[in-house]
Amino acid sequence: MSYQVIIPAAGQGKRMGAGKNKLLLELNGMPVLIHTLKVFEDDENCDGIILAIHPQDEDAFHALLKKYRIEKVKNLVPGGKERQDSIYNALKTVESEGIILVHDAARPFIQKNRIRRLTETAEKTGAAIIGVPAKDTMKKVRDNAVVETVERSSLWAVQTPQAFRISILLNAYKKAEEDHFIGTDDSSLVERISYPVSMVEGDYENIKLTTPEDLFFAEAILKNRES
Ligand code: CTP
Ligand code: MG
Repeated sequence: MSYQVIIPAAGQGKRMGAGKNKLLLELNGMPVLIHTLKVFEDDENCDGIILAIHPQDEDAFHALLKKYRIEKVKNLVPGGKERQDSIYNALKTVESEGIILVHDAARPFIQKNRIRRLTETAEKTGAAIIGVPAKDTMKKVRDNAVVETVERSSLWAVQTPQAFRISILLNAYKKAEEDHFIGTDDSSLVERISYPVSMVEGDYENIKLTTPEDLFFAEAILKNRES
């Protein structure tokens, strides 16, 4: 049941346009980074957090970990150019066997019960991810023209966390490095080594804070949780 988690937090937040790492923005008076870390700090099944950070944020992040008494961060690693590089830097420091989760620092609304279901599935199958069925009609578009309507029932929007047996994720990352392949999530690297990945249904509110309007949704989610 226990797991370790890699949290990539070394982005620039360019699309948020806040002039600093979006993870330092506050929701209810607490930085996004801490909202996310607290979920794992408070999860008894979480054995340790490996945080990938940008050198420019090092002092600020250290101060926050201290202020909010986040004690499970056992390793701070430097981030890389791409999200994938940041995660690989973190993955290389993980020693023991077991289950590793990867969770974006920019998704503060993940809930413990989902983490539990995901981890249980990954323990059985070796690889599991969280996602939600697509709600909108989806079309393939090229040069502003519709190419086709894609069968929606088979489409899911994928989130994090994603959970893997450590050896499987390491193999997937090694192969991606060899092939100079950059994927948009960890599962895509595992899919490339032909390992089957299980899907666990998650929550629509596990949003990633990406652009400024996401902050409005975030405030609404927090308000709803309080009431
Ligand atoms: N991330 C990272 N290292 C990178 C790029 C991203 O650790 N080189 C992290 C981000 O900090 C974030 C997560 O990966 O927690 C998801 O990335 P994204 O939402 O794209 O965040 P940013 O890259 O910061 O935003 P943007 O792409 O708008 O610059
Ligand atoms: Mg990015």
